[in-house]
Amino acid sequence: MRMRKKRHGNERLLALSALLYPNPGENAPRPAEVFGSERPLVLEVGCGKGEFITRLSLAEPDADYIALERVADVCVVAVEKYARSRGLGDMAPNGGWLAPDGSLYKDGAVWDIPFEQRGNVRFLVADAADFAQKLEENSVSAILANFSDPWPGKGDHKKRLTSPAFLENYRRILKPDGVFRFKTDNDGLFDYTLETLPENGFRILWTTRDLHNSERAADNIVTEYERNFTERGVPIKMLEAAPVKDGSSGEKA
Ligand SMILES: C[S@@+](CC[C@H](N)C(=O)[O-])C[C@H]1O[C@@H](n2cnc3c(N)ncnc32)[C@H](O)[C@@H]1O
Repeated sequence: MRMRKKRHGNERLLALSALLYPNPGENAPRPAEVFGSERPLVLEVGCGKGEFITRLSLAEPDADYIALERVADVCVVAVEKYARSRGLGDMAPNGGWLAPDGSLYKDGAVWDIPFEQRGNVRFLVADAADFAQKLEENSVSAILANFSDPWPGKGDHKKRLTSPAFLENYRRILKPDGVFRFKTDNDGLFDYTLETLPENGFRILWTTRDLHNSERAADNIVTEYERNFTERGVPIKMLEAAPVKDGSSGEKA
């Protein structure tokens, strides 16, 4: 996702940093400590401007969500969208973040948002490749990848979010009854993913090459990229797969 450099992007992220997931490291808190719950954990890789995760987290509130985005200037848009959706204020006309009580957070000021107002999503500026390696085995209930970059160039396959190295990590961190969900406009990437999943320890549970005319259309939450492709008449492809692990049948959605 290409974007013009955001004015005060880092400062804006800092103001709402209570909504960021702590960088994983040696003494980093476990997800259950971050969210204060043992609810199912869902990971979105490449969340873009955050419309999908913002709406999903409201539609399915009984889970906790980590939304990863590699580009900070894109992530800031997602965090602000989520904050607005939770009634946490808005951008101030002259810069900074304006909380509902009128407090202004700018020039590096951090709003320590009360825990109970933070909701069930935390965002992180990170590469999915690095982050997925740091999560515990069998800890994630669902991994969601929407409209990830197709990387069609020769030699770029390894950057695809469904290339073998990524899938190996996804399979390790997914619970035996966990699920991987993937949407794309791109036929080449879809076909590639249909091949790489079974080759890397996943079982395909469900596929469609026309999501908006499928039985899942009514429950589908449209992403920013999806809206764009749909307006141009491109059918949306989707698949769902489960990790095949000791003790899992690979049947569960
Ligand atoms: C094509 S956009 C789709 C955004 C959003 N999911 C949607 O459907 O509207 C793909 C996004 O994934 C991010 N991305 C690509 N590779 C990534 C990686 N390895 N880790 C984290 N984010 C990544 C890009 O920065 C970009 O914002």
